[in-house]
Amino acid sequence: MSITIKTGAEIDAMRLACRLASEVLDYLTPFIKPGITTREIDKLSLDYMVNVQGTKSATLGYAPPGHIPYPASLCTSVNDVVCHGIPNDIPLKDGDIINLDVTIITPEGWYGDNSRMFVIGEGTIAAKRLCSITFEAMWKGIEQVKPGARLGDIGHAIQTFAENAGYSVVREYCGHGIGRKFHEDPQVLHYGRPGTREELVPGMMFTIEPMINLGKREIKEGRKGKGPYDGWTIVTKDRSLSAQWEHTVLVTETGYEVLTLSAGSPPPPDFIPAAKGTAA
Ligand code: MF3
Ligand code: CO
Ligand code: CO
Repeated sequence: MSITIKTGAEIDAMRLACRLASEVLDYLTPFIKPGITTREIDKLSLDYMVNVQGTKSATLGYAPPGHIPYPASLCTSVNDVVCHGIPNDIPLKDGDIINLDVTIITPEGWYGDNSRMFVIGEGTIAAKRLCSITFEAMWKGIEQVKPGARLGDIGHAIQTFAENAGYSVVREYCGHGIGRKFHEDPQVLHYGRPGTREELVPGMMFTIEPMINLGKREIKEGRKGKGPYDGWTIVTKDRSLSAQWEHTVLVTETGYEVLTLSAGSPPPPDFIPAAKGTAA
């Protein structure tokens, strides 16, 4: 495996795929309220992809080695679910936090991958702080992206910021190259040491998607009661809250371009220069 460098028309195709992935989240946003179930969100998501956009879900039926096929059009990870939560019939309630992770495939075969957090209803101060620090941690990583920088710089920026805020970084899952495949090289760790790992080159494209826990960093398979494992859901071992945000980013000649932006993308934090994190 090696890192693919995208050029010209490939970059344009990925701009489209990533904008469409972001627009699915824009579409879903007004529905994310107390009372809706994640299964209802899944139906809305699939319907929008297929019938409005003409895209496909990359997660529906996705079956990497060692996994049963993922059964839904997006991942819905609530509270202590770290990632890969499967939609179910439990209504969202006041104070829940949820990550919606959407990956689409365009008719031409390009993948766009992104996720956002939502606080249901009012939300506790602790939950809101976790979500906003995790958002800033993602952008601390994005800020590092430029030719000559290294992947370790991204991981280090995220880890230092999250740990200084009193949180922990999940180690078992990472960002990834993306393009004509869902998961390509390189692996983008959300922890690490500056000046280590691969050097960034214009045309590289990858996701940055830190999972940050309120408590300890350890994770485990998520089981409901004594039932069998669903094959996908990952939770925090100490059952503390976990948050995640995800963007797909392009390395440009001068820095970065965030590809998963659309009209409804939350504005970047104040430490990001104006116009860097808004849809064109
Ligand atoms: N979208 C996730 C990512 O960011 C992967 C989800 S795989 C699934 O890489 F099968 F769980 F949907
Ligand atoms: Co994703
Ligand atoms: Co991803």
